[in-house]
Amino acid sequence: MNIMVMGSGGREYSIGRMLAQESHIEKLYFAPGNGATAALGDNVTIQEYDALADFAQEQKIDLTIVGPEAPLVDGVVDIFKARGLTIFGPSQAAARLEGSKVYMKNFLAKYGIPTARYIETDHIERAFEFIESLPTPVVVKADGLCAGKGVIIAHSHDEAKQAVSQMLSGKSFGDAGKKVIIEEFLDGYELSMFAICDGSDYILLPAAQDHKRLLDNDEGPNTGGMGAYAPTPLVNDAIYDNVKERIIRPTLDGMKAEGAPFEGVLFIGLMVVNGEPITLEFNVRFGDPECEILMPLMESSVSELFYKAATNNLSNLHVKFKEQYGVGVVMASRNYPYGSSDPAEIIVDDIVHQELEEHAHISYAGVREIDGKLYASGGRVLVCVGLGTSIEEARDRAYMLCGQVHFAGKKIRTDIAYQALKKA
Ligand SMILES: Nc1ncnc2c1ncn2[C@@H]1O[C@H](COP(=O)(O)OP(=O)(O)O)[C@@H](O)[C@H]1O
Ligand SMILES: [Mg+2]
Repeated sequence: MNIMVMGSGGREYSIGRMLAQESHIEKLYFAPGNGATAALGDNVTIQEYDALADFAQEQKIDLTIVGPEAPLVDGVVDIFKARGLTIFGPSQAAARLEGSKVYMKNFLAKYGIPTARYIETDHIERAFEFIESLPTPVVVKADGLCAGKGVIIAHSHDEAKQAVSQMLSGKSFGDAGKKVIIEEFLDGYELSMFAICDGSDYILLPAAQDHKRLLDNDEGPNTGGMGAYAPTPLVNDAIYDNVKERIIRPTLDGMKAEGAPFEGVLFIGLMVVNGEPITLEFNVRFGDPECEILMPLMESSVSELFYKAATNNLSNLHVKFKEQYGVGVVMASRNYPYGSSDPAEIIVDDIVHQELEEHAHISYAGVREIDGKLYASGGRVLVCVGLGTSIEEARDRAYMLCGQVHFAGKKIRTDIAYQALKKA
């Protein structure tokens, strides 16, 4: 089987790393990949979607897996499917669940799926009126894709109004902010759940928790994610059942009824309030770094899971997960998330610990290869992943591996998985 993975982050590396271990995979391609995926397969530099589809046909690629949201929202799945190619990811129409928060919220409301009380509007007076009716804090969200920066938690009505004015005038996010969502603030704890969907059926992966803030104790600015762990003990069977029955099932049925059956990764951002899971948002692809810890927890074949999902064949698939925990610690570059950083050579110590050899590994993200050496090229550089039979063990292995990886300016959080460990 020949497989192509679209994307260039640690998420795509971690999928490729699993695929590279499967004996029936002949050729593995990354488009565009990064400096480390080149060691797992071939990096492809073609950017244009039609040309990539040509390439997939020429190289007899049996399955394309799309990592990031942008190509999905652009409709890459439709382009590939029109050629009869097999591709894992939602159609452009289904990707609106992530591409437009207005679409997503209206969908949730239409199908009675629990979510925060809200209005959508492009009228400033209507917005101000609703803001005044809510207690503080008030949540203001730009409609379109804003690379994780389009949500403002406003601590006063004035701050909320200011955020809305900035968005509606196009000043803060251009067209992505020309419509806004204003919603009530939910006080609880956040979880991420991932369902691999084939339009009708789905496989639910172990629930994960991400750490968005740059600094320990969830302080500092928001980032793409500084670490994650799974499965989280903050979920019990009642919450899983609730998510399945009240969120995933009506979403798959609803999207079918809308004429946009959902195939791909349904990423459910949840706030658990008094034991009740409430949908904050959907994304239509894996989280990064959640993917980096969920992939190595898979005991069953990753290629089979994605292939069956892409061919509407999940109903009889049984997927096994390791009875282990995964903890991933992101190593970011000096100026992250504020700006770019100078390239810095990555040195991984040559000390061999059998424990780390067997239960820890690196998923590479923002790296470039020059003359056989790897350089941190800015942003989030890599993720140190530890697996173990307890969260503590997995965490200790991840941090032990962090101690073996060096580059100038590296920064990490030291408290990944703290919420789970506090509870234990
Ligand atoms: N209604 C809400 N109540 C409390 N916090 C919220 C609410 N909506 C969003 N947030 C916080 O803002 C973050 C980003 O919002 P989200 O809807 O996930 O948008 P995006 O990921 O596209 O930026 C969430 O992870 C959560 O921490
Ligand atoms: Mg989010």
